Amino acid sequence: MNVCLVSEMGAHVGEQVTIRGWVANRRSSGKISFLIIRDGSGFCQAVVEREALGEDYEEVRKLPLESSVELTGTVVAEPRSEGGVELHASGIKIFQKSEEFPIGKKEHGPDFLLGLRHLWIRSPRQVAILRIRDALVRHVRNFFHENGFTLIDTPIFTTTVGEDSSNLFSVEYFDLGRTYLSQTGQLYLEAAIFALGKVFCLGPTFRAERSKTRRHLTEFWMVEAEAAFSRHQDNLELQENFVSYIVQNTVRECSPELAKLQRDTEPLKKIEPPFHRLSYDEAVEVLRKNGSDIVWGDDLGGDDETILTQLYDKPVFIECYPRKAKAFYMKQHPERPELVLCADLLAPEGYGEIIGGSEREDDPEILMKAILDNGLDPERYGWYFDLRKYGSVPHSGFGLGIERTLAWICGLKHVRETIPFPRMLYRAYP
Ligand code: 4AD
Ligand code: MG
Repeated sequence: MNVCLVSEMGAHVGEQVTIRGWVANRRSSGKISFLIIRDGSGFCQAVVEREALGEDYEEVRKLPLESSVELTGTVVAEPRSEGGVELHASGIKIFQKSEEFPIGKKEHGPDFLLGLRHLWIRSPRQVAILRIRDALVRHVRNFFHENGFTLIDTPIFTTTVGEDSSNLFSVEYFDLGRTYLSQTGQLYLEAAIFALGKVFCLGPTFRAERSKTRRHLTEFWMVEAEAAFSRHQDNLELQENFVSYIVQNTVRECSPELAKLQRDTEPLKKIEPPFHRLSYDEAVEVLRKNGSDIVWGDDLGGDDETILTQLYDKPVFIECYPRKAKAFYMKQHPERPELVLCADLLAPEGYGEIIGGSEREDDPEILMKAILDNGLDPERYGWYFDLRKYGSVPHSGFGLGIERTLAWICGLKHVRETIPFPRMLYRAYP
């Protein structure tokens, strides 16, 4: 038996092969049935005729969608088919005749589909998104490896608050009391630069955010990078090179999948350095002129990000936010102590923040004050202060959310389709 993947059939025209997969669609008449078979590598049409199959044909004629099958037949060139070939079947083995599949062709609401996420991921759109996610993550890793960064796997259980104590998930940890699920790997990456210079991590990140927006998950994947001797402006340059690389490579590799999502890729092809740069002060001015009620000192809201990103066709950095709107570790601005040397990167077409980054505070006194002002417990930061004692250096880094970036690349309205099993305020099943 010459078993092959659907994606390999093109190399076997005229030969007899066997494919294994699921019935994604079926059209039947008394004499002939057209099955669309999905095997994970692709979709292909199988033509099954009563004459070729004999008495097995009656089963095929009524075969429910999502039944699992093995089909043997001849590969025939068919330019009108996806992949350019189809299978003319001479035999079938049915592994399991599916029960009636709950997801049909009619429109289903998001809650219904999310509750059936374990089945929903089989649909062509979801398959395309998951493939693009795989490519994106691979290009993220490639960029860092090609640029001299070393992967550091940072812990999930932490005792040091990395960002903001208001959205922590806590876990009882044996006799040690409470630990938190990681909000960021950053502080651990900061330790690792003293060993390895340039490092990155890529892993799940947890935030107990009570936000029901199209941009928020409670569990998401973040890639973070950190580099010794890197200043604020170096950090922005790294980010624009990084984002351009991952977008260009993903778009090039995934054009069939993006076409399936009907994503117009022209705007993505324009993503190359340099990106726009706007100070926080300027951003507030632009926003107020465009109808926002933001006041100086506030962090940008989701609507503010949407307004700003519709003004530009490339990502835009918003630089130097007020200290009070940002996390404790950001380095104080040299001329304006009320600001920090940070930037958020907003993706165009209304997508908004995909990166948060900054130079890190290396002055232990300013750092201590920031920790206290944020209501954090300095005792838990002993190890972090050590990094400012033993060969401290200027350093910077950033974190990019995989799901928000994927939503932008795929042109999706909501991040819930960008992760295999989304975790949100009201959703932890399946
Ligand atoms: O801006 P954030 O909070 O930055 C950090 O965590 C830094 N420690 C990163 C660093 O400097 N090493 O988060 C970074 C990115 C955001 O820009 C966004 O893309 C994503 O993580 N993100 C979320 N994505 C989905 N759901 C959420 N609830 C998210 N929160 C942040
Ligand atoms: Mg942020």
